[in-house]
Amino acid sequence: MANHDICTKTMWALSVPLAVLLVLFIALTAYATYSFHIFVPLAPDNDIDCAEMFNKSSENYLSYIENRTVLVPTRNDKNCFQIRRRRYLPSDMPKSMAGNHNMFFIRVVKKDYDFVEEVLTMMHSPIHFFCFPIDISADSIFKERMFRLGDCMVNVLVPRELFNTSTAHGTLSAHRRCLKEIDEFDWKHAVITAEHDIPLHSTKFLSRRSRRLRDMVEINGVHFKEETLLSADPNDTSSQLYQVSRNWIQHLCSMATISHSQHKTLYNYLMKTPDFNLPNDEHREVHVLEKGCDTNQYDVDGSCLYAMQDFPAIRNTTRLFIRADPNYDFGFIQCVHEVVFERTYFDPISNKNAMNYLYGSHKNLINDYRN
Ligand SMILES: *[C@@H]1O[C@H](CO)[C@@H](O)[C@H](O)[C@H]1NC(C)=O
Ligand SMILES: *[C@@H]1O[C@H](CO)[C@@H](O)[C@H](O)[C@H]1NC(C)=O
Ligand SMILES: *[C@@H]1O[C@H](CO)[C@@H](O)[C@H](O)[C@H]1NC(C)=O
Ligand SMILES: *[C@@H]1O[C@H](CO)[C@@H](O)[C@H](O)[C@H]1NC(C)=O
Ligand SMILES: *[C@@H]1O[C@H](CO)[C@@H](O)[C@H](O)[C@H]1NC(C)=O
Repeated sequence: MANHDICTKTMWALSVPLAVLLVLFIALTAYATYSFHIFVPLAPDNDIDCAEMFNKSSENYLSYIENRTVLVPTRNDKNCFQIRRRRYLPSDMPKSMAGNHNMFFIRVVKKDYDFVEEVLTMMHSPIHFFCFPIDISADSIFKERMFRLGDCMVNVLVPRELFNTSTAHGTLSAHRRCLKEIDEFDWKHAVITAEHDIPLHSTKFLSRRSRRLRDMVEINGVHFKEETLLSADPNDTSSQLYQVSRNWIQHLCSMATISHSQHKTLYNYLMKTPDFNLPNDEHREVHVLEKGCDTNQYDVDGSCLYAMQDFPAIRNTTRLFIRADPNYDFGFIQCVHEVVFERTYFDPISNKNAMNYLYGSHKNLINDYRN
């Protein structure tokens, strides 16, 4: 009996420091996990040495061009954890990396779930919103995976309704659904892109650029003021707005930046312009092909599909997005992901490591980050 008492007392005496240690340990682990989560982004998972791809006479480059990597679909996930383990999609980020101008990225999707996820990872930032309306022709696995992605991520929206995006009005309705979905949220500009567009810059760069538009709308690089949109006549096929927006829709809505205040006016106008069929796999655009296309590969709308041979030149282009096909050259997309990753996380302003930045090129961009 006495022995038992002593034993209990000793255990009690021991349990206090043990409990303190345990609490400290948990606190430290939580803190480490939290800091790790915020400050140490995971580099994109990639087997290719992208730095070698800048040297067009290197053996690695030449053998890659002979045998390109194509998208290998991952298995369907069972839960959100599997997506988080595969992708770096932080729920918090320092302001210096995320920026503070909330953006809304919208694109219609049909297939290649892993490509959608890759591009989302390239552009993801917890302060921005992403919306992926699904085309009616998508297969059931694709839909299931997209819906799960939307359920797992608070800032990713995937409307349950499907859209027939084979026509202009079908595609515009899909965008409009996204725009209405979170209309009350404090997003400032929406960026509409085509399914196969990949970014060349960090989302912070895109958001800073959009901020300068204020209340205007930019379609295919042309700016439209509120007055123009309000007084636009959808029957006037000679207006600049008509011509530019028609060309934009013809190119699968790649790309436009729309201010929150103007999205209703713009889409009301666009829905009153005539409906027409958009190019797709069955009806490809063959008459107007993008000029100077090194790869000679074109998307359904005649836009050039960029690939590894263009990699050395992308540092010089002023374009925000380019088209790429994951079933033709996925390695190129992974290398662009590395570039965008560097542009996002090794911002020379906070990192001071300019040599690390876009493989030594820091053309034009630093000033854009500074203003
Ligand atoms: C490019 O690769 C070739 C062949 O491996 C090599 O001789 C050359 O030095 C490389 N050039 C640069 C700039 O690294
Ligand atoms: C192409 O690359 C894949 C994987 O990298 C490899 O399994 C295959 O054997 C290569 N094919 C040729 C023809 O080199
Ligand atoms: C989508 O719309 C087009 C044109 O109206 C039509 O021909 C096609 O059958 C529709 N597709 C589906 C899957 O409903
Ligand atoms: C445009 O044309 C349609 C039919 O021709 C007509 O019903 C409509 O009122 C016109 N809209 C405007 C704004 O003139
Ligand atoms: C990029 O631009 C720089 C400076 O304008 C030029 O020296 C270089 O050759 C260009 N690179 C490519 C791949 O076009």
